[in-house]
Amino acid sequence: MDWNTVVESRYSVRLYKEQPVEEEKLRKVLETGNKAPTAKNVQPHRIYVLKSEEALARIRSLTRCAFNAPVVLLVTANGNEEWHCVFDEGVVSGEEDAAIVSTYMMLEAAAQGLGTCWVNYFPHEEVKKAFGLPEEERPVLLMPIGYAAEESVPSPNHTKKRPLEELVKEL
Ligand SMILES: Cc1cc2nc3c(=O)[nH]c(=O)nc-3n(C[C@H](O)[C@H](O)[C@H](O)COP(=O)(O)O)c2cc1C
Repeated sequence: MDWNTVVESRYSVRLYKEQPVEEEKLRKVLETGNKAPTAKNVQPHRIYVLKSEEALARIRSLTRCAFNAPVVLLVTANGNEEWHCVFDEGVVSGEEDAAIVSTYMMLEAAAQGLGTCWVNYFPHEEVKKAFGLPEEERPVLLMPIGYAAEESVPSPNHTKKRPLEELVKEL
């Protein structure tokens, strides 16, 4: 799939087929994420692949936004490893790094014909406890992955874009 097709075909999928995700495709998604840049290349993100019945049941019990995806990635940022801005205390790279990695994975999934949704609607602390994450890790996002159901369509939000002129300023 060429770049334009990947970008144009991607939308947030919230209804999935029961069909499992092939291991090779999942591996490719994770490998592409591993090519993403991170601040000072510290790679402070961690990715938990939730795909056992037990893990899926647990995440679905904590948020409706895991949907019925056969795989859900839980992406975290490690507070002991992230980059700290030398100019401003408290400015750290963990969430940015996790987001860049996840964007790479999202687009690779689209290139593989897989649907995804970026999910922030979950109780971060409860998820941290439920999966026994180390104290220093902050959950950043969930990413359900799977084949879009036949009935799946983009939400009206997908095409609602503010004009570039409103968002971009030449200075
Ligand atoms: C940071 C972030 C958080 C999001 N959280 C959720 C969420 O919790 N649940 C959900 O269904 N969609 C979530 N979305 C998906 C957005 O609603 C969606 O990307 C947006 O409406 C544009 O639609 P599209 O992805 O189909 O183009 C999130 C997207 C981003 C970037």
